[in-house]
Amino acid sequence: MKDYIFILGRDPELSLLELASYFNARKVQYKIKVHSATAAILSLPGMDFAKVIKELGGTVKIARVIDNLDNEELYAGTSNKIKYAVSVYDDSDVEELKEYIKARMRQEKLKAAYKRSSRQEQFLMPNDVIRHELMSEGFELVVYDDIVARTIAVFNPFDYEKRDRERPKQRELHMLSIRLAKILINLSMAKEGDDLLDPFCGYGILLQEAMLMGINTLGFDISRECAEASKVNLAWVVKKYHLNANYKIFNADSRRISRFIEKADSAATEPYMGPLLNKIPMKPEALKSIQQLEPLYRDVLRELSKVVKGNIAIIVPRFRLYSGERIKFNFERMLSSFGFKPYSALPEVKLPIIYTASDSKIEREIWVIRKI
Ligand SMILES: C[S@@+](CC[C@H](N)C(=O)[O-])C[C@H]1O[C@@H](n2cnc3c(N)ncnc32)[C@H](O)[C@@H]1O
Repeated sequence: MKDYIFILGRDPELSLLELASYFNARKVQYKIKVHSATAAILSLPGMDFAKVIKELGGTVKIARVIDNLDNEELYAGTSNKIKYAVSVYDDSDVEELKEYIKARMRQEKLKAAYKRSSRQEQFLMPNDVIRHELMSEGFELVVYDDIVARTIAVFNPFDYEKRDRERPKQRELHMLSIRLAKILINLSMAKEGDDLLDPFCGYGILLQEAMLMGINTLGFDISRECAEASKVNLAWVVKKYHLNANYKIFNADSRRISRFIEKADSAATEPYMGPLLNKIPMKPEALKSIQQLEPLYRDVLRELSKVVKGNIAIIVPRFRLYSGERIKFNFERMLSSFGFKPYSALPEVKLPIIYTASDSKIEREIWVIRKI
């Protein structure tokens, strides 16, 4: 076991729960030693961290803690002009560390250029690390909690952008972000070889990400156009990334899932959240939406209780009024009537977790539930 620093994304609580769920699903022994809104330090066995970071939605960097810097080979490649950076995630003064690195470079006769954050921050964003090719043509050190670590894997935003751009079926509205799709998949604890269900699959964004992780997928959408688009998008991802996972899409109402499938290992979904809002709603409008959504969520939960064996990661909308008041339905009570209860992989993380997309008029409650 070694210690690794996971630099967490925008929603640290969600990222931490994702990490615990991801490692639990794969039966990886781990221990969370420290965590904050910035990062978490985990003890872990060695593994393919380049793959791990591709599969996580909520982690931006993984860095291996260095026990003794004198014994650390700073650069093992062949280039004689390298680039490096020191990213600081606490209030440490790193001048001494920078001087030490310079001295080591001189000693090892390496020509090295120091790279700074393009945003005038104390740390480099993943796109800076990738743009400067620090992983292949140099190195990055990370300082957090007075500990020095070396970046071994970094989130690649260009991969996400490319997938979002190249996906054959596109729509402007209702597009789930790849990041949130991955987080939901991991909260469902789906892993390679499992069958994951998305009862509101839309254009298949979440299912695409699951298939990239080797997970077989089952999708439902009541709209013929969406079901067809999902099929096209999934066929594309299989071909483009040479995937082995299978998929099955049903153009059907998810209030009738059990007529079509017998079982799924887990489910992850951003369901229908009512008509699109272009401004914060007035109370009567919000109440009306909630009244219409409640029976749909209830009927779908009933179906999910019949077919899903493991975790269900599901988003539940709630409306924020100008007054600050929140309008929502009582999802927790609905859960218990179908034999579900909230399931948090970490006792200190309480469900639901609130997720607010910057451009969204609706707040999302993220729940993870399972049968009692
Ligand atoms: C918020 S979108 C889901 C976005 C999707 N997760 C994605 O990645 O593209 C909700 C979808 O639910 C579908 N839908 C609404 N009511 C449904 C129902 N009763 N059964 C199945 N699908 C439904 C809509 O057609 C829409 O595509």
